[in-house]
Amino acid sequence: MKLIVAVDNEWGIGNKGDLLARVRGDLLHFRDVTAGKTVVLGSNTLATFPGGKVLKNRVNIVLHPSESYSPEGALVAHSIPELLDMLKSYDTNDVFAIGGASVYRQLLPYCDTAYVTKFRKSYEKDVWFENLDESPEWELCEESGVMHSDPEKDTDPALDYVFCVYRRVAPAVTVREANPEDVPAIYRLLTVIADVHRAIRPDLMLDKKSKYTPEEVRAHIGDGTNFIFVAEREGEVCGHIMCVILRDAPKTLYIDDLCVDPAARRKGVARKLMRRAEAFGKENGCSYLLLSVWSGNGEAERFYADYGMTERSRNLEKRI
Ligand SMILES: NC(=O)c1ccc[n+]([C@@H]2O[C@H](COP(=O)([O-])OP(=O)(O)OC[C@H]3O[C@@H](n4cnc5c(N)ncnc54)[C@H](OP(=O)(O)O)[C@@H]3O)[C@@H](O)[C@H]2O)c1
Repeated sequence: MKLIVAVDNEWGIGNKGDLLARVRGDLLHFRDVTAGKTVVLGSNTLATFPGGKVLKNRVNIVLHPSESYSPEGALVAHSIPELLDMLKSYDTNDVFAIGGASVYRQLLPYCDTAYVTKFRKSYEKDVWFENLDESPEWELCEESGVMHSDPEKDTDPALDYVFCVYRRVAPAVTVREANPEDVPAIYRLLTVIADVHRAIRPDLMLDKKSKYTPEEVRAHIGDGTNFIFVAEREGEVCGHIMCVILRDAPKTLYIDDLCVDPAARRKGVARKLMRRAEAFGKENGCSYLLLSVWSGNGEAERFYADYGMTERSRNLEKRI
């Protein structure tokens, strides 16, 4: 599957349900790339098309949960599994995800090519696309010369933009909520962290194999207090993050644990888990992320600093 999207400097893609800018040159590019192909879109995006009508000369598949929803001239998929089943009868090289934000988010892991129009400007926005320049999963392989908007016809009379093509160079890492079947994988990762901590401070670990037993991990899942997300790569759990919402003011998301399988490191997995936790914190009214890192765990300290975390307090100890 492929996708086509237009982003601004911060990879924003829309504001208040509409596009950031309507540029004829980009719309023609969109038409050329997708003509005669199959396009997959969300119902909100369809509603932004002139008259809410489907795109001509293309098979339109619209994602919407309701069975009674039936836009004229479109096929409707009610879930991603149903969409993937429908797409079995199409050549996936000719299928394009065309937005909006929720559809890009769900279909990006299935895409191997991304046509990205980059608007060289920062607009006001409320929906974003994943920054492919920061993703180790994607590589920029083509970039056009700079084009300019038409001051007579376009919504932004002074806009420079370029057409880019990105290709997937590594399997997708996806992050989802943990379920009880993930307990063995999470427990294995907890023992990996425990080994790192044991190497730094054997006196603190004693005989403890890991921070939590498998039974404790199982009890945490879905208990309404602990929130666990796992990262999956090629069908295998390769990392997890555990969080708790601290109800003090300001409301804070405490990261109790984060671990990535050593074989899956340097592939952006930890960053994706942190981003998921951060989004979860924001959705739940938190204005801070908080965590503890062991002195001596330089790799973790560097990662968190790179993620933008700064020191709030220090733990002091004295052996007695
Ligand atoms: N810059 C670009 O290239 C570009 C392109 C397209 C759109 N956009 C922008 O993106 C924004 C719209 O994004 P959006 O996320 O709000 O809307 P959207 O993705 O276009 O549509 C969301 C709708 O699709 C349904 N849907 C999504 N996934 C589904 C699934 N797996 N199963 C069943 N139904 C599903 C949603 O159902 P639920 O109600 O159940 O969630 C919701 O009703 C707008 O600002 C638009 O202008 C930008």
